[in-house]
Amino acid sequence: MSLLRSHRRNNLKIRLQTGQYASRRLMRCRLFLRCFVGLSMTSKTDGDAKNNQSNIEQAADMSVATPWTRRAFLAQSALGAAALGLWGVGGCTPPMGSEQVGDGGGKEVDTRPPIALTKGPYLQLMGLNEVRLRFETQSEDGLEVTLHQAAKEVAKQMSQGKLQKIEAAFPADDPSLERRDRPGDYAVHEVRFASLKAGEHYEWRLSRRGGAVEEGSFRAPAAKGQPFRVGWISDTMYPQHEKSVQLLAGKKPDIVWHGGDIQYQTNFLDTWEGVFQVFEPLLRKAPMHFCVGNHEYEGLDEFEIFYTRLLGGHGDQGAANDYHAFTYGGVRFLALNSEEGVDKDDTPQMKWLKDELMKVEQSPDLMYAVVGFHRPYYTFGRSKPPLGMRALLHPLFKQYKVPLVMSGHNHSYERFDIDGIAYVVDGCGGAIGYNPDEYLEEFKANAPDEVAARRAVDRGFGCSLLDFDPKGTLTLTHHEFEGNKEVDRLVIPKA
Ligand SMILES: [Fe+2]
Ligand SMILES: [Fe+2]
Repeated sequence: MSLLRSHRRNNLKIRLQTGQYASRRLMRCRLFLRCFVGLSMTSKTDGDAKNNQSNIEQAADMSVATPWTRRAFLAQSALGAAALGLWGVGGCTPPMGSEQVGDGGGKEVDTRPPIALTKGPYLQLMGLNEVRLRFETQSEDGLEVTLHQAAKEVAKQMSQGKLQKIEAAFPADDPSLERRDRPGDYAVHEVRFASLKAGEHYEWRLSRRGGAVEEGSFRAPAAKGQPFRVGWISDTMYPQHEKSVQLLAGKKPDIVWHGGDIQYQTNFLDTWEGVFQVFEPLLRKAPMHFCVGNHEYEGLDEFEIFYTRLLGGHGDQGAANDYHAFTYGGVRFLALNSEEGVDKDDTPQMKWLKDELMKVEQSPDLMYAVVGFHRPYYTFGRSKPPLGMRALLHPLFKQYKVPLVMSGHNHSYERFDIDGIAYVVDGCGGAIGYNPDEYLEEFKANAPDEVAARRAVDRGFGCSLLDFDPKGTLTLTHHEFEGNKEVDRLVIPKA
């Protein structure tokens, strides 16, 4: 343990010595000037606190590390600058003690000290015309969120959240770690933006009080016939995940789909608080949905107190389950949990999946389904394919003409063509790279047809893009952050 602690302290020292945090104050001033626009202050309470639990006494320690440490670091890198600048405004925090917003009207703001955000804000789709914005604090005090379209305020809400005691610390509660998951009382706040216009761009602003404002934007779910882009990223581990996130942010996806293994407790520098900060360039600009990976189950109720508490209820059925669905641009996206419930034909998840596929086939508003889950069943990489899952799912996907199945888990890139279905393994988000050919010789001997069906392979870190045109043609591309290069492309016409 002493060696681990020494490593963490050395890592922090290295960052300080290299000046990664040195211009924090400069960045605050710059973004303060850029971000301040008018806010009005009437309030309307809304939101859904159904995923939050008991009201427990507030934590005494409110000195949560400011998000600015990581944000300043991001802004100093070239890719970070691209993500924050080219994709519109990013989050901003003014100097403490501000009493007015610079909207030209001199409106007064709540001058109480700003409330620190421990995670988020982050966006998720709730329906065809509904998006929720969430963030975590250590207070039940509601914060004002306004929604704007074409520079006009179109909605205003106060967030709601209930404190919940989190007793575990991931990893150990080591004060030398910059963004650790501390035990304490935390509240997941939420507001919902409903009645959105299909395919339109919106901006949101969150007032943290005292003049501190967070900002971001998103595009409401596109209607069938409107083009859109989905970004895929999976297996995001410190430190390479940061460059993969910045690469994807620079590609400006309308929505982001994470394939699971969101963070790794096996890496003592990974934390949930830290990974949410690294995801910031994505979370502020697009709804982000997460499949469940095996590393979401790493001991001490991690799945319940992080995945379910923070992300549960996402998707357009308000799913409290570990699998969910959403619709964007006439395409149904089915996010499965490949860790359980896909090994037998009669599980709730399998029944739900069949029902979803049938509805897609019958609905004139839906073109087809794209499926994503963590554990691939066509791969030659380190983790061998689960053949039972393959036997259940592949016939279904073939029957319902699913054009593309995305997976992660094996930390490399592979693409197969099986019965006209593109099976993609992209676990390249930053976790330690695996050899995609680890079992190639074995498959050559036992399954030569599968070897012939593998059409692309790559070892670099990065992400994938799914571009949908108005006619439903799907273009898959895979990108490495080293050199910002495209390394694979497949065009899939609508069947
Ligand atoms: Fe995994
Ligand atoms: Fe992984």
